[in-house]
Amino acid sequence: MKIGTPLSNSATKALLLGSGELGKELAIALQRYGVEVIAVDRYPNAPAHQVAHRSHVIDMTDAVAIKKLIAEEQPNFIIPEIEAIGTQALIEIEAEGLCTVVPNARAIQLTMNREGIRTLAAEQLNIPTSNYAFAQSFAELQAAVDAGIGYPCFIKPTMSSSGKGQSMVKSAEGLQAAWDYAKSSGRVDTGKVIVEARIDFDYEITLLTVRALSFDSAQDGEIKTYFCAPIGHRQESGDYRESWQPQAMSADALKASQDIAFKITSEIGGLGLFGVELFIKGDEVWFSEVSPRPHDTGMVTLVSQKQNEFELHARAILGLPVDTSLHSIAASAVILGGVKAKGVVYQGLEKALSVPTSEIRLFGKPEAFISRRMGVALATGESVDIARKRAVKAASMIVIKSD
Ligand SMILES: Nc1ncnc2c1ncn2[C@@H]1O[C@H](COP(=O)(O)OP(=O)(O)OP(=O)(O)O)[C@@H](O)[C@H]1O
Ligand SMILES: [Mg+2]
Repeated sequence: MKIGTPLSNSATKALLLGSGELGKELAIALQRYGVEVIAVDRYPNAPAHQVAHRSHVIDMTDAVAIKKLIAEEQPNFIIPEIEAIGTQALIEIEAEGLCTVVPNARAIQLTMNREGIRTLAAEQLNIPTSNYAFAQSFAELQAAVDAGIGYPCFIKPTMSSSGKGQSMVKSAEGLQAAWDYAKSSGRVDTGKVIVEARIDFDYEITLLTVRALSFDSAQDGEIKTYFCAPIGHRQESGDYRESWQPQAMSADALKASQDIAFKITSEIGGLGLFGVELFIKGDEVWFSEVSPRPHDTGMVTLVSQKQNEFELHARAILGLPVDTSLHSIAASAVILGGVKAKGVVYQGLEKALSVPTSEIRLFGKPEAFISRRMGVALATGESVDIARKRAVKAASMIVIKSD
């Protein structure tokens, strides 16, 4: 493995498609190894733009615009941070063999559409999932629910993230509104929604799974799968509010979780970190979805692990050894905008940072929305309970106001 000098002819270049808070931390992790980082997003001054060597603003769903930019920049690695990307461009670029799409173009295409990844997991790999169906009209949706999915159920656009366009329906009266909402609020209207039976889980986890080269003497250069300690999280309106690590689990549930994560990530292939989302009840585990990239709930690893999820992704991509060990029990709590305003100011940082062990990350987003994630509070503790209380307390101390 060799790395060049940034901003010179020998540079090892990584182009981030998506420059949010996860991209920002990834940019920092890559720069620590001397990688030249080019951050791309659909709006100027996105979080990763602010720490990258260069930045660009393009419509990332536009395959032509992506191809043009990549021809200009000639990166060694293209690292998607978001789901809504013109994936056809990535397939073509990968086929040309000039750069590596992380983890690979098929992974990006499969996971950007719930239909791709769900069908692969449930129908090809026989991994347990909720009962589900896809519907292209309200009549099809109604028929699928009546034919066995039942209530309560979740209706989601096939292309969306962070809970956008998603709702839970408790009875027949709510179905039409859920259909209308899913149709109007997805990132891209594929014409289809997925309806899933509700899994009545005890808790849900993200199992960060890393495919990286192994440097154990016997297996030098082989790809090995590494697991982080399970991350528990709490979601509200389809978006995460708190996460903690480790989530206590039975040995059987952990084993089943790791088996599922191994199956799905091995099928996807490539090098990098994946966030495997799982629902758990007793010893039973269901697969929900997978991100072929760092996961929002994994921000807790900024304080819990020897190598956080961004560093693990960077190291795996670069062909370097990884260490997924936990060094302290920790928690994260998100800081939401609470207002709709540009150029907001943050108050209470000194109070937040007076909470023992706490750390605050402010993402520097140019515009706040009521429920836009603007920052995260992190804390460690002797128990998950203590760490969660500290993180929630620190997050609550931050007050966001329009200037
Ligand atoms: N079938 C289900 N049964 C029970 N809970 C569910 C189901 N589907 C979704 N949920 C709940 O809603 C949350 C968000 O769902 P999902 O992960 O599918 O949406 P998303 O838009 O991809 O969110 P994100 O991008 O934040 O991961 C889940 O973490 C879970 O709490
Ligand atoms: Mg999810």
